[in-house]
Amino acid sequence: MELPKHIAIIMDGNGRWATERGLSRIEGHQHGVKAVKRALESALDNEIPYLTIYAFSSENWSRPEAEVNGLMKLLNQFLKSEERNLIKNKVRLRTIGRIEALPKDTQNVLQSMVQKTEDFDAITLTIALNYSSKNEIVDAFKVLIEEHKEGKIDVASLNYETIEKYLYTRDLPNPDLIIRTSGEFRLSNFLLLQSAYSEIYVTPVYWPDFTEADFKGALEHYSKRNRRFGNVQQII
Ligand code: FPP
Repeated sequence: MELPKHIAIIMDGNGRWATERGLSRIEGHQHGVKAVKRALESALDNEIPYLTIYAFSSENWSRPEAEVNGLMKLLNQFLKSEERNLIKNKVRLRTIGRIEALPKDTQNVLQSMVQKTEDFDAITLTIALNYSSKNEIVDAFKVLIEEHKEGKIDVASLNYETIEKYLYTRDLPNPDLIIRTSGEFRLSNFLLLQSAYSEIYVTPVYWPDFTEADFKGALEHYSKRNRRFGNVQQII
């Protein structure tokens, strides 16, 4: 079975999952963390080298303060409680997004885990935090323009490969498969450039209910897709 090298997940539906059960939104996110652990295990079991999860978008700051604080707390707890597991499984942790705007304690835990795991190679788990594709492009432009002022950029030879080196994802392959849960057909400002040729798999399952079997289902779906990258089908 042809497997994706990089899977990126838009983990949607925590709020609806909780509301339907008469629970608070934060309880939905708590169950969402369990689904994150299952997805990481599934990715490890299937030897997927890159897994990226959209945990907090730049637009999520507009949610009620208690929900934002609750999400940050869950992230801290996840990093602390999973430290041994991440190290045992040789998970390299990294982040994308404007991390400098997160609470200082969250930044410290993240930085420490990124450093501790930087030489691991079983899987790269990237957590998108305070992430927005539009901001990613703005940040790329800022550095690029500064470097241009310093005479380091040759405008005539500028191409997409050059631009890619300024994105947060500079050391990641493009996602082969994007999974979105809860039945919404949107990319929500997530990896917009990087997903130019990604296969997109939308499942109606709410993120807290996403199991190993759903992960496997997404892999099977992917293996049947015919990826042409703008080309015509190759007949051998
Ligand atoms: C979308 O569901 C989910 C989020 C905005 C947050 C995702 C966060 C987690 C799964 C937990 C924290 C992550 C880690 C890595 C520990 P929603 O709240 O928008 O759902 P709704 O559309 O049903 O309201």
